[in-house]
Amino acid sequence: MSAKNVPKVLDSSFLEKLLSGVKEPAQRDLLEKQLNISVNTFLGFCHAREDQTKFKDGTVNNVEFDGLKRLAKEACKFKGPIIEIGTLFGYSTMALAIGKTKNKSLYTVDSFTWNPIGITSRRHEELTRKSLCFLTETQNVKIIKNSSTDFYAKYDIESPSLIFIDAAHDYESVKQDIEFGRRVQSNIICGHDYNWPGVKQAVEESFGNMIETIGEIWVWREKS
Ligand SMILES: C[S@@+](CC[C@H](N)C(=O)[O-])C[C@H]1O[C@@H](n2cnc3c(N)ncnc32)[C@H](O)[C@@H]1O
Repeated sequence: MSAKNVPKVLDSSFLEKLLSGVKEPAQRDLLEKQLNISVNTFLGFCHAREDQTKFKDGTVNNVEFDGLKRLAKEACKFKGPIIEIGTLFGYSTMALAIGKTKNKSLYTVDSFTWNPIGITSRRHEELTRKSLCFLTETQNVKIIKNSSTDFYAKYDIESPSLIFIDAAHDYESVKQDIEFGRRVQSNIICGHDYNWPGVKQAVEESFGNMIETIGEIWVWREKS
């Protein structure tokens, strides 16, 4: 965009206030253009962020949130921890934590490699740890910074009662997530975004029609 045709986005009376005291017409003109360029750049940045967050902000909706609470409650009938793969900012973690009993361990695993608002991995992790500090301090919730692949390779604790899969959504990743759940004999295996083609394919190959859905959450139970 050339300085000549910068859209005027600033209210003229507001602009007048900003430029009060600047008398020289050429200087006023230049400053006005600069201000409009800055504001347009900022609005463009906001718009780009808005487009990126159309992916439902990457988290569960209200129906799915309640579904996760019920699933965590159900998992408390079994021994073993609840495992979440894909924490993001911890909204689904909160649903699982609300549904479980306090003494039930909940491990939530994230590599902090993706978020819908474009912040750095370090800020993403920091924000998530701060948001979840009540749960991590008092409710037996542990955030594990790791890739799912590494976490699966090193897993040596008891069979989980529930694994909730919501990290990478491509076929190979979801297949690997499900295979982990089966290898460690999780009583309940579930995950988000059943509407994603790769997710659907991996789930159908693994469980056929032996699943229930709650919104876009798919759920498999042993002996179902
Ligand atoms: C869709 S978000 C999770 C949303 C969250 N469960 C919720 O509902 O609020 C996906 C998360 O998985 C993480 N992730 C992606 N691939 C991963 C992998 N291979 N291992 C661990 N975490 C991963 C990303 O960093 C991101 O935070």
